[in-house]
Amino acid sequence: MFPERGESEEEVLEELRRKTSEDLTFDSGKILGSMCTYPHPFAIRVITEFIDRNLGDPGLHVGSRKIEEEAVGMLSNLLGLEKGYGHIVSGGTEANILAVRAFRNLAGVEEPELILPKSAHFSFIKAGEMLGVKLVWAKLKRDYSVDVKDVEEKITDNTIGIIGIAGTTGLGVVDDIPALSDLALEYGIPLHVDAAFGGFVIPFAKALGYDIPDFDFRLKGVKSITIDPHKMGMVPIPAGGIIFREKKYIDAISVLAPYLAGGRIWQATITGTRPGANALAVWAMIKHLGFEGYKKIVRQAMELSRWFAKELKKIPGVHLIREPVLNIVSFSTKNLEKTERELKRRGWGISAHRGYIRIVLMPHVRKEHLEEFLGDLREVVKE
Ligand SMILES: Cc1ncc(COP(=O)(O)O)c(C=O)c1O
Repeated sequence: MFPERGESEEEVLEELRRKTSEDLTFDSGKILGSMCTYPHPFAIRVITEFIDRNLGDPGLHVGSRKIEEEAVGMLSNLLGLEKGYGHIVSGGTEANILAVRAFRNLAGVEEPELILPKSAHFSFIKAGEMLGVKLVWAKLKRDYSVDVKDVEEKITDNTIGIIGIAGTTGLGVVDDIPALSDLALEYGIPLHVDAAFGGFVIPFAKALGYDIPDFDFRLKGVKSITIDPHKMGMVPIPAGGIIFREKKYIDAISVLAPYLAGGRIWQATITGTRPGANALAVWAMIKHLGFEGYKKIVRQAMELSRWFAKELKKIPGVHLIREPVLNIVSFSTKNLEKTERELKRRGWGISAHRGYIRIVLMPHVRKEHLEEFLGDLREVVKE
């Protein structure tokens, strides 16, 4: 019911605290199955100070718009491109939808089709439905990466684009993007890489010596990349990123916004009014942590995931789905539903809907949390 009279701030806050007390929080260490994390305190400071900025009306917030451009520029550089075109958006879902929209608009075919791996994120299902694009699913190989031969067999005159994934949602697998890029160039079809998760992991992991295939704009067939600062980038939700190799992709999805207080602009994002503070936080976190800072975060997450995978393998009745590529470790047990139910009852934020339990070694997850989890898992599996 909409209240007739207001209550004091304290009373309202008290009620909020009570009602959210059943939420799991990242700092409790209990959330093991999420790609988000507790935001960096500096990012929170930036958001608080610049909370009123609206990038939907950039004529009013000219400085913020320039900072968003600089953030896109730094992300482009991280992904091997001197100058890219894009936006800080609401998340990986919006970024993926924008890429499919750009490919569809530029292709101009009547019955557009998109080829994507069976492991692709469900945001592409939304994209397909909203944009009237038929999704053509490509098979996976035994290592859970996309079967590039199958992708090739599925190319038709209606294919508007190919999707490759650099860090799959379930297993953190990186597709053979170099082979997909060659294929895309051979057939003259644009390749979009969904690195929503991997974008803030792979460049640093490679610098640390991990053997991961190339995945970014250094490969000429790659025309766009999704990279999410609100996953391993340590920025508060919402902060996704879409980067295009050329301006023509942004132009293909831009709509004239004629009435804004700051003047007429061309707008490419799906959201109109959108948070400037989060884009500023992306810029600020990159400036604050730098490549070395992110490398440190990734080193810890990667080392912890190798240790965790090793410990899991010691538990009878537990098997790894595959060796981890990034900081995601997925495993199965005999009676998986029961295992999931029991672990959840013990307060763990995990899920098993894909036929395995996925643990994401985000920066808020520490060894002591995992030791406690392993202890619970041992008991549950034995029962
Ligand atoms: C590979 C991949 N792409 C896209 C998304 C969607 O991102 P968001 O939830 O930020 O919209 C996710 C989310 O987990 C993902 O793992």
